[in-house]
Amino acid sequence: MFETLKKQPADKILQLMLMYADDPRDQKIDLGVGVYKNAEGVTPIMRAVKAAEKRIWDEQTTKTYTGLTGDSAFTGGMTRLLLADAVAPEAISAVATTGGTGAVRLGFELIQMMKPGGRIWISDPTWPNHIAILNYLGIEIKTYRYFDAETRGVDFDAMMEDLKGAEAGDAVLLHGCCHNPTGANLNMVQWQEVADLLNARRLLPMIDIAYQGFGDGLEEDAAGTRLIASSVPECLIASSCSKNFGIYRERTGMLMAISADTARKPLVLDTMATLNRLAYSFPPDHGARIVATILNDDALRADWMAELEEVRLSMLGLRQQLADELQRLTGSDRFAFLAGHRGMFSRLGVSPEIVERLRTDYGVYMVGDSRMNIAGLNSRTVPLLAQAIVDAGA
Ligand code: LMR
Repeated sequence: MFETLKKQPADKILQLMLMYADDPRDQKIDLGVGVYKNAEGVTPIMRAVKAAEKRIWDEQTTKTYTGLTGDSAFTGGMTRLLLADAVAPEAISAVATTGGTGAVRLGFELIQMMKPGGRIWISDPTWPNHIAILNYLGIEIKTYRYFDAETRGVDFDAMMEDLKGAEAGDAVLLHGCCHNPTGANLNMVQWQEVADLLNARRLLPMIDIAYQGFGDGLEEDAAGTRLIASSVPECLIASSCSKNFGIYRERTGMLMAISADTARKPLVLDTMATLNRLAYSFPPDHGARIVATILNDDALRADWMAELEEVRLSMLGLRQQLADELQRLTGSDRFAFLAGHRGMFSRLGVSPEIVERLRTDYGVYMVGDSRMNIAGLNSRTVPLLAQAIVDAGA
């Protein structure tokens, strides 16, 4: 039977991870997978995470199953972190998932269950795994233009024009903040226009928010999501704790379904719990318990927020340093957009040939569409990268 299997298309990001690991050069620079690294090139365990783990180790008395929806201390804490008081609690159904990817997958499955044969609009470009999962599930994909190759900002007019082609009942996938892969984000006026369009055309938004706290701050990064959640009758929100808590391998995420018709909550929650059961029964608990411990303790929460802010500011500093260095080397402002992008990623906007040259000649690893993980840099490697970008002909 196994001979009937077909080779699956490789994931571009994970493939790059392997290529980087195989490269023997000392000077290589990893700007591939979206993992934060500090100035020493280490992905540290955050202080509050270590403290929470110690507390859990001391106090936890059982490892028996949680519920299918996960621990309510986790879903409640995360809901407040994401939405504050933008939406009434009775409107929200939330389940813990296996990481942000699990939340995305569950959200897509829910959409498919609600509307078999329905369509989902995704930004062009988007995280490649969005496309892979949708293809796997056999959900029809429609794309809306998003990135302006000239300005390296959002091509908002094109986005709105394309979304006007959506039909009632279509779903629209939006990145809550820190757009992956471009780093270009909507402003609040644009979020409002998107909300108006969603309402006018009766579209279902699904927001993927995996980088809250990595852009302009915890509150600022959630503002677009809160605006949508409080403006439309129904929406889905997939969130991740991998990056902002630095607990990548613990696989900690959450899917929220919001309905202004609060009577829907029992059915929606039960369906999401069933989807968890069908996929893996109970969602993983350890990461969720760490997050719940931090969010529900004033001192740990304050320490986590302070460390997250250091991480955010260090990425902003690297962005500015890179933009300045490229300005100095080229004598032009054509890379100034790097300082304006937010989150871990920026799309440099160079050809695949230049991306390839950067990798083979300079040991610089970025995704083929020229997505760079800014957090893979440090103050020593920024000038090396800037020089390589210029020398490679960008
Ligand atoms: C990324 O985009 O690099 C991250 O979200 C990691 C992943 O799973 O692809």
